[in-house]
Amino acid sequence: MRAAVVGATGRIGRLVHRALERDHHEVVPVSRAHGIDALTGQGLDDALADVDVVVDVTNTTVTDERAAEEFFRTTTEHLLTAERATGVKHHIVLSIAGVSRVRGNAHYAGKRAQEAAVVAGDVPWTIVPATQFHDFAEMVASWTEDNGVALVPPLLVQPVAPADVAEILARVAVTGPQGRHVEVAGPEREDLVDMARRTFATRGQEIQLVPSWHTGIFGVEMAGDALLPLDGAHIAPTSFDTWLAGISDARADVAAGAAPPAGATTP
Ligand SMILES: NC(=O)c1ccc[n+]([C@@H]2O[C@H](COP(=O)([O-])OP(=O)(O)OC[C@H]3O[C@@H](n4cnc5c(N)ncnc54)[C@H](OP(=O)(O)O)[C@@H]3O)[C@@H](O)[C@H]2O)c1
Repeated sequence: MRAAVVGATGRIGRLVHRALERDHHEVVPVSRAHGIDALTGQGLDDALADVDVVVDVTNTTVTDERAAEEFFRTTTEHLLTAERATGVKHHIVLSIAGVSRVRGNAHYAGKRAQEAAVVAGDVPWTIVPATQFHDFAEMVASWTEDNGVALVPPLLVQPVAPADVAEILARVAVTGPQGRHVEVAGPEREDLVDMARRTFATRGQEIQLVPSWHTGIFGVEMAGDALLPLDGAHIAPTSFDTWLAGISDARADVAAGAAPPAGATTP
């Protein structure tokens, strides 16, 4: 199989690329760093030549709702146009569990626009909605961190390991179009503030965490069970503690002077 990973330099994209190559598929990496821009469409027709399946794991840092909708709708439409032209048989997109249940978040509005464009398109598709990743807490803290103090919303989440999500995307790529995939979550519920605290402790970073619903990104509309997976979700195996242990082992290797394995990324 020849698969294009759109967003191949990203946190999930690198892991999907690695999983597909391990399974002896040919991978075409797509990102602006590779000279291909899904927002303008530049380079897509050439990149998708002879590609069987596209895995879209692009992302944007825009925080304005209209800009997020514009990014995800436009990148998807450009991808689908190129896929029709080149004969791609399956478009897979990574979405987020709960995007249709939670209003008031710009990124989620963008993901809804992305899902709608995929459903309206005529390339057979699979939408894979996943819960927050294990590294989500430290990422959220990094957005507000200032002088060693970070605001973190006390979200209730059921986080999943990025590598487990990548495995599912790689499996879907060989299985074929499935429409809307069941939600993908990790095995345990966690509090985002506690996750951030444990992550920074494991990394040996001293950051004071202030629980707050006033980060400007995640408000009370995401409180309670809004982000938890629905009944029947696929539960991936790697717990947050197991993921943290991987970080701890990697730090110990670095401290002992061992080089990280080639292509190592966050598990
Ligand atoms: N973080 C979570 O907890 C979570 C949970 C569920 C689902 N998701 C979804 O997972 C997806 C991937 O997230 P991530 O954290 O892996 O993203 P990321 O690390 O920020 O990577 C984003 C990727 O998109 C590429 N990209 C951005 N603009 C592009 C453009 N115009 N054309 C081509 N490529 C472009 C980037 O490469 P260049 O900059 O080189 O172009 C990069 O490879 C997102 O859609 C997100 O909504 C995230």
